[in-house]
Amino acid sequence: MENMEHMVIPEHVALILDGNGRWAKKRGLPRTMGHKEGCVTVEKTVELAARMGIKYLTVYGFSTENWKRSVEEVGALMQLFRFYMVRLLKIAKANNVRVKMIGERNRFDKDIVEGINRLERETKDNTGLTFIIAVNYGGRDEIVRAVRKMAADLETGALQKEEITEQSLASYLDTAGIPDPDLLIRTSGELRLSNYLLWQLAYTEIYVTDCLWPDFDKEELEKAIAAYNKRDRRFGGVKAT
Ligand code: IPE
Ligand code: IPE
Ligand code: MG
Repeated sequence: MENMEHMVIPEHVALILDGNGRWAKKRGLPRTMGHKEGCVTVEKTVELAARMGIKYLTVYGFSTENWKRSVEEVGALMQLFRFYMVRLLKIAKANNVRVKMIGERNRFDKDIVEGINRLERETKDNTGLTFIIAVNYGGRDEIVRAVRKMAADLETGALQKEEITEQSLASYLDTAGIPDPDLLIRTSGELRLSNYLLWQLAYTEIYVTDCLWPDFDKEELEKAIAAYNKRDRRFGGVKAT
């Protein structure tokens, strides 16, 4: 158990929740059961993060590349998504959580898009944790969509060429107004970004654990935060003495 008393709590934690399939396989269960269990872990993590005083929690729920999976698995993920959207609305209301989705939502079925819009609308005035879910999200896709919006604004004159800066580009991303993540946690041991928050993770501290996502708990989150507290964030400068 980590002593959390004197720990700096990162303002924004980004999560790549990986390993649902491996968790299920280890138990001889279908992959879908791993996703189901993974959803329970997401719920618990939202409540935990809110209690710990984390301000922003961003989780990778479904990538632009995950459509490559079998029709059965994609279908099962959509069904789970439908089910958990309703639960999430309740949890968000009970915990003063504001929910936001990033990614290209219009590729989903209409009822899912409506559910996403409702979640955002009904929680927008909550002042606690901001819970961001990346669905049909890809970092490259997000940048392409941003550049297209910028090009449209250049055409109408709403944006001038000289006004293109890191700040203005960031304001066209899905994460506009959200500070960059301080800590990235990836479960299941893979040492890659898998197209997650490519722009936003420029100076984020990366922590990878072998723990499979459905097994992730308070102790695992505390271990990640303890590791973060030992890091020396230099942002390209020199070590503070
Ligand atoms: C993460 O678990 C959840 C999603 C990508 C939807 P995986 O389904 O990728 O699990 P593994 O990597 O196959 O174990
Ligand atoms: C990343 O996990 C995407 C999500 C967690 C939603 P993947 O399992 O899809 O990533 P790869 O295929 O191992 O890179
Ligand atoms: Mg995976």
